[in-house]
Amino acid sequence: MRTPIGIFDSGYGGLTVMKEIASLMPQYDYIYLGDNARAPYGPLDFDTVYKYTLQCVKWFFLRGCPLVILACNTASAKALRTIQQKDLQGMDSKKRVLGVIRPTTEIIGKLTQIAHIGIMATTGTVLSNSYVIEINKFYPELHVSQEACPEWVSLVEEGLYDTAEANEPVKKHIDNLMQKDKKIDSILLACTHYPLLINKIKEFVPFDINIISQEKIVAESLEEYLKNHSEMENACSKNGTIKFFTTGNVTNFDEHASIFFGKNVHASHINL
Ligand code: DGL
Repeated sequence: MRTPIGIFDSGYGGLTVMKEIASLMPQYDYIYLGDNARAPYGPLDFDTVYKYTLQCVKWFFLRGCPLVILACNTASAKALRTIQQKDLQGMDSKKRVLGVIRPTTEIIGKLTQIAHIGIMATTGTVLSNSYVIEINKFYPELHVSQEACPEWVSLVEEGLYDTAEANEPVKKHIDNLMQKDKKIDSILLACTHYPLLINKIKEFVPFDINIISQEKIVAESLEEYLKNHSEMENACSKNGTIKFFTTGNVTNFDEHASIFFGKNVHASHINL
């Protein structure tokens, strides 16, 4: 039986990826889960992010999803490897879980002119050093500076992304990053929530700096993956539907998700 692809995030951020994936590959069915009740994941320790992410992955598998995309950098940094290397074998060896860090680091060196890049991410992602380690494998010549922006995910989750309240925390972290390396010519938004703050971010980033978001990169990499893995492609159902689920408040989710997704969203609540 063919079943939908699962797309997971701690909250709203993964919708930026979901939107791009659905626009590139509208033929598939998707299930989106936002763990809004427990977001943000960024400040949580490794074991907690791993535990929550694994719980969500199991939920997707129970619904039959053959493939789950962790559209969340924090979960990709802190849980993906253990799930891939340890948990999958014990569950169903045919199922797959993919993240967002690998596809991004594979191409990031092509997006900077002078090999100086800034990474803005959650505290968890920055402390994991995953970006620095992965980028070094593909582009050892790249200078990478990181800045943790702990307040940014909450600004999005609380619906404050377009308010004056966002100005100070957004400006502060951009200034901090630019202080770390004045030569930075490209900034990667290495948290899927951050594109939802893009208007604020653009207000404070110097105009000649390239802002990179991941959604297109991740969507194109998934398309490539499905082209190269026909068994997986054949396991995915194709009726063009998307179902949304949240562990949080459905009314809030529908209101914000519809703005971010650009279409009306009607989520169902789940308890984990
Ligand atoms: N969207 C998640 C990410 O890409 C946000 C993490 C959080 O919940 O703090 O890292």
